[in-house]
Amino acid sequence: MFPCAVSAMSLNDIEKMPEKTTRSAAQYLPRKITYPSLCKAAEGCRGCDLYKHATQTVFGQGPATAKLILVGEQPGDEEDKQGLPFVGPSGKLLDRALAEAGIPKKEVYVTNAVKHFKFTATSGKKRLHKTPSPREVAACKPWLLAEIELIRPAVVMCMGATAAKALLGNKFALTKHRGTSQPGPSNTKVMATYHPSAALRAPDHDARQAMYAAIVEDLAAAQALLH
Ligand code: URA
Ligand code: SF4
Repeated sequence: MFPCAVSAMSLNDIEKMPEKTTRSAAQYLPRKITYPSLCKAAEGCRGCDLYKHATQTVFGQGPATAKLILVGEQPGDEEDKQGLPFVGPSGKLLDRALAEAGIPKKEVYVTNAVKHFKFTATSGKKRLHKTPSPREVAACKPWLLAEIELIRPAVVMCMGATAAKALLGNKFALTKHRGTSQPGPSNTKVMATYHPSAALRAPDHDARQAMYAAIVEDLAAAQALLH
């Protein structure tokens, strides 16, 4: 679990305030940024419309001392119910990949680009994941930047195109640039790999294996940058 009082910082350290007319999470950030104050404030975030249908805010989780932050897209069905990131099927695959890359899960801080679950409800009560829009990703970004500034890890690993675009820009091409590192916010190195769900959903066994292997390889490359 996360020890409480971590270093405080001011709002201005996180990002330049967006234009006043732009709706975003920025106005919900607490003045003093600590992990508990962030979690509490994010619970009440109304920075975009996604809070309306989700069960709860799913904030990042992990130790303050983490040298590696993993960023997914948004909570899934299970994460929305439990209020914790990566506890569903994607999380199980991620746990396996981390272990195979030699990274202790308890040393990693895990979060998402968007903190509320976006879905479409089917007639049979199923909630189907819906990709967040660039606007929703931008609205939620102040939380992610605050987490990165608070923890100041050596490496931020984006998993999937949504997280990669959030931190590296909309032109970022996962297939082309995965596994390489670029300068990121708060003096971090930002890398990207496939999303664990891509390795679950690929059409055949060989494709799933290849994606899984790529994720393990990229996580190992991130781990190598920590030392
Ligand atoms: N997929 C994500 O991107 N994040 C989660 O927390 C779970 C599934
Ligand atoms: Fe706020 Fe992000 Fe939730 Fe939108 S998705 S309401 S910006 S926490």
